Amino acid sequence: VKRVRTHHLREMKQRGEKFTMLTAYDMYTAQVFDEAGIDVLLVGDSAANNVYGHRTSLPITVDELIPLARAVAASASRALVMGDLPFGSYQGSPEQAWDTAARFMKEAGVAAIKLEGGAAMAPQIERLAKGGIPVCAHIGFTPQYEHALGGYRVQGRAEAADRVLQDALAAQEAGAFCVLMEMVPAELAAKISAQLEIPTIGIGAGNGTDGQVLVWQDAFGLNTGRLPRFVKQYADLRGVLLEGAKAYAADVKGGTFPAPEHGF
Ligand code: KIV
Ligand code: NA
Repeated sequence: VKRVRTHHLREMKQRGEKFTMLTAYDMYTAQVFDEAGIDVLLVGDSAANNVYGHRTSLPITVDELIPLARAVAASASRALVMGDLPFGSYQGSPEQAWDTAARFMKEAGVAAIKLEGGAAMAPQIERLAKGGIPVCAHIGFTPQYEHALGGYRVQGRAEAADRVLQDALAAQEAGAFCVLMEMVPAELAAKISAQLEIPTIGIGAGNGTDGQVLVWQDAFGLNTGRLPRFVKQYADLRGVLLEGAKAYAADVKGGTFPAPEHGF
């Protein structure tokens, strides 16, 4: 199978063909999503919440995320694998961003990097792009800035719309190969997508972006906590695993597992 490259995403945009992205943090999910034809696998800093058990994405470190990214990159044969830069690992300076992004490329083998910020991160985006690292700029609601933004809320309503547009344009101008918009009004996200030459990816940003992304534990029913309204649940993995674990426990306690055929 032919590897998905950044130019393929741009070509899909030009053809008006939607593309898909899911998070992945390990080998089996990477294999399954790759086989399903998901175009981009994001090793998100949301691993903080979905792997390491934190309440926000802020605590995860580069050293904790790189091994997960390495597992995903090693397991996907078609999808473009993107690594997410953790909070505090790039905001400091373009050089800091370069050093962190280069570690993801070299140690994990990802093909692209995502960071949070548009206009404010333009120097970082430009540094990576000029150094040969494809960058996706995450704008709109940016979870790493939760405390500055005053919690989880839609960005770009009313007068704030221009700020989101300016972030998108600044990211494109700085050399980003795509822009990811989170929790932005659908109409604004569609307008920005039409205005940009580079592809856009949406989460909680309506149907007018070029691609869509979801966190897999949300999309497939492993996380059954309070989910944002932009999530659609496509499977009930928690139910499947719960029944499996209960059946196993019942067999062991009832003495029916292992059976003779499971032994030597
Ligand atoms: O870390 C993540 O999962 C993300 C997506 C929600 C876009 O950044
Ligand atoms: Na993220």
